[in-house]
Amino acid sequence: MKGNIIVGQSGGPTAVINSSLAGVFKTAMDRGFNKVYGMRYGIQGLLDEKYVDLSDYIKNELDIEILKRTPSAFLGTCRYKLPAIHENQEIYIKIFDILEKLNIECFIYIGGNDSMDTIKKLSDYALLTGKPQRFLGVPKTIDNDLALTDHTPGYGSAAKYIATSVKEVIRDGNGFSYKKQLVTIIEIMGRNAGWLTGAAALAKGEDCEGVDLIYLPEVPFDIEAFLSKVRELLSRKNTVFIAISEGIRLADGTYVSQAGGGSDYVDAFGHKQLTGSATYLANLISREMGCKTRAVEFSSLQRSASHIASRVDINEAFMVGGAAVKAADEGDSGRMVVIDRVSDDPYQSATGIYDVHKIANGEKLVPRSWISEDGTNVTQDFVDYVRPLIQGDDPCILVGGLPRHLHLPADED
Ligand code: F6P
Repeated sequence: MKGNIIVGQSGGPTAVINSSLAGVFKTAMDRGFNKVYGMRYGIQGLLDEKYVDLSDYIKNELDIEILKRTPSAFLGTCRYKLPAIHENQEIYIKIFDILEKLNIECFIYIGGNDSMDTIKKLSDYALLTGKPQRFLGVPKTIDNDLALTDHTPGYGSAAKYIATSVKEVIRDGNGFSYKKQLVTIIEIMGRNAGWLTGAAALAKGEDCEGVDLIYLPEVPFDIEAFLSKVRELLSRKNTVFIAISEGIRLADGTYVSQAGGGSDYVDAFGHKQLTGSATYLANLISREMGCKTRAVEFSSLQRSASHIASRVDINEAFMVGGAAVKAADEGDSGRMVVIDRVSDDPYQSATGIYDVHKIANGEKLVPRSWISEDGTNVTQDFVDYVRPLIQGDDPCILVGGLPRHLHLPADED
């Protein structure tokens, strides 16, 4: 008889992170694992022995379907950095004691580049000390900045939300274009990678003029050049729409959000909270040009909009969860499942697997060749890359007119 599996979620959530959790649960059950435990709040909660038996909450196929469409981390998430093994062996001894107590054979962690650091360290420790448990990573992040995978689950749905909402914001603003000038700045997540902001380009089509300018963090942001672009646009049109990444930086490396007095909060991995760049730039334009401005920060909406999740994304998220269980069950450890693009038209993908040491803590940025020469837009190659990832939908299960979610009560210890 097989032992047990434990799964955790870590880092910023996505609209489809729970589809990966569902994929882990379903595949573990199908492969004959005894129990599937879920860590509450990732490795940080596990250290406090907080976990649940998932079969107490996922009881049938309908629960699996609802879970796949439930945004945010069902189990709760954390941003917790494990110390280096030589710095604090005690913490590793504690984690492995808990794993042994729960008869865990496979440890699956659904997360981004920071979370893969946890898989890297735990698998290294197991190897060093001859522990039998296997450790596998499942990719997840709206930022799409993980190395060695064509894209990450969560990105396609966030990109779809962004393109849709940008279209709606443009419709809203353009209604006011008669004898009135309006500059709308839309701030999009993604930290130091512009994958998500670039998705604003998808808004442009037969029924939408699209945004006028797109600024990604990969290109240094020049405030004077920005203001003169906006001035020039206002000299020939009344409404201007601009997508900016939360992570745009000045040539000296200062985040525009900091220059605008943004938040001082820094997480365990040393990442500053990036917020407020759109408000800063909108106020600046309003002062300099005397026109009406609006700052729209999609904030957590862009990573929790499961009501408009892409079917491709939901299915791939489920697929990578299952692939991780299969790999761990077959003896793999210290690796992360990746998505390989098999073809664009028709779009097809498959899973692969890579050494997590090559992925943890890295950042895959948008190639410079996919950004226009003047740094104010993305190229057709970029659009062609992301378009297949936003395709299809998988309607929410509505109860009382609203999407039904599967959830656990918050643990606020
Ligand atoms: O890493 C995912 C992400 O959504 C980034 O795009 C964003 O900068 C960050 O998380 C925000 O994190 P938090 O919600 O912890 O402030």
